[in-house]
Amino acid sequence: MADIRNNFVGIKSPNPFWLASAPPTDKAYNVIRAFQAGWGGVVWKTLGEEGPPVVNVNGPRYGAIWGADRRLLGLNNIELITDRQLQLNLQEIKQVKKDWPDRALVASIMVPCVEESWKAILPAVEETECDGIELNFGCPHGMSERGMGAAVGQVPEYIEMVARWCKQYTRMPVIVKLTPNITDIRYPARAAKRGGADAVSLINTISSITSVNLDTFSPEPSIDGKGSHGGYCGPAVKPIALNMVAEIARDPETAGLPISGIGGVTTWRDAAEFIALGAGNVQVCTAAMTYGFKIVQEMIAGLENWMDEKGHRTLDDITGRATPNVTDWQYLNLNYVAKARINQDACIKCGRCHIACEDTSHQAITSSVNGVRHFEVMEDECVGCNLCVNVCPVENCISMVPLAAGELDQRTGRPVSPEYANWTTHPNNPMARQAAE
Ligand SMILES: Cc1cc2nc3c(=O)[nH]c(=O)nc-3n(C[C@H](O)[C@H](O)[C@H](O)COP(=O)(O)O)c2cc1C
Ligand code: SF4
Ligand code: SF4
Repeated sequence: MADIRNNFVGIKSPNPFWLASAPPTDKAYNVIRAFQAGWGGVVWKTLGEEGPPVVNVNGPRYGAIWGADRRLLGLNNIELITDRQLQLNLQEIKQVKKDWPDRALVASIMVPCVEESWKAILPAVEETECDGIELNFGCPHGMSERGMGAAVGQVPEYIEMVARWCKQYTRMPVIVKLTPNITDIRYPARAAKRGGADAVSLINTISSITSVNLDTFSPEPSIDGKGSHGGYCGPAVKPIALNMVAEIARDPETAGLPISGIGGVTTWRDAAEFIALGAGNVQVCTAAMTYGFKIVQEMIAGLENWMDEKGHRTLDDITGRATPNVTDWQYLNLNYVAKARINQDACIKCGRCHIACEDTSHQAITSSVNGVRHFEVMEDECVGCNLCVNVCPVENCISMVPLAAGELDQRTGRPVSPEYANWTTHPNNPMARQAAE
């Protein structure tokens, strides 16, 4: 059986599945139930300064996007950090850590961007004997308007400064949680590293409005007729998160910086993808909020089964395995040729592939042959774009078949070259032409 024990910046947990800082980790009651269900660790709901806690709205906090089967694809929220007293949270953290020593317990923190505020809260958090801290530089709503959360995460200099204070005032590992509401994620990650952070975690939520009520003309969730942007998460954000994780993992300036991958993790496969792209572990919020804590059992079993099947013994065997395969477009092999092929036995003759290819791609799929409804790829027109694969409602009905070296590409009339050749040396590339002259 594969060994999925996790060691993230020295924080040990029985598996790489942590709950992200959010409602599932808001209080001891939840966290204990999560640990009972099998979660390897939690990042406690973000703590704020000592004093009167923040106040949440007293109406709807969530907006959502669903698939046609009403499955939740994207969740939007306007919730703030914890609205419970700091001391109550700290007492609970201390007790839970004492009772569950084998699980990871990290405290998320967000206080004003002044040294005194961080200096004040860090010893109090350290006293709980939790395993580490996560700096919430990601929340894009409410707190950012008060100069915290994403307002800090969008300024690399602030990230570096606060990370440095934290390393100075605590011995606990420091994880910097990044906001995706930024153009190039590498800059805040580099700043975290410069500030001495032990790791980064990402992504926090994406600024969003999920819908507008067309009777009241109010964005949802609506509070007395008005709405404000919220933070988007869930399966819909996974592609954005994966890309950002990969960008940091393959950036020479941050290579080797541990990453906790967050964003849309719902299945073991999602987790394995984050890990393959360089994440040391994953954090989960929306999936637990949608399906409950026991979903972790499927994640654990699925990951173990897959690792057993493939002969991977530990997480180290898979961590970062996909990172070297992420490259810039200009290095893709332009001599690689693939063609779509339709499995006629699986085809239900809906016609989607034809209309997509006919109207928006390369007019390479028939709709009828000899007057009979029939969908077939014309290889001499197919550019191999795979749009048809993605619009076909029948899984695996259309596959992309690579042509072997030497095989004739009917579209170009040329045999497929065995050589790897990319845009940097292509004769149509003006830069390549200039270099050759
Ligand atoms: C209702 C809600 C509240 C959240 N509160 C926090 C928070 O207090 N601190 C924080 O760092 N992230 C917070 N998050 C963001 C999550 O920790 C996580 O980064 C994000 O939801 C992406 O993960 P997911 O796609 O698995 O949900 C919150 C998310 C939701 C849905
Ligand atoms: S791969 Fe693209 S070009 Fe080829 S048949 Fe499909 S949609 Fe048309
Ligand atoms: S979209 Fe798929 S199922 Fe529909 S006609 Fe094309 S190949 Fe057949």
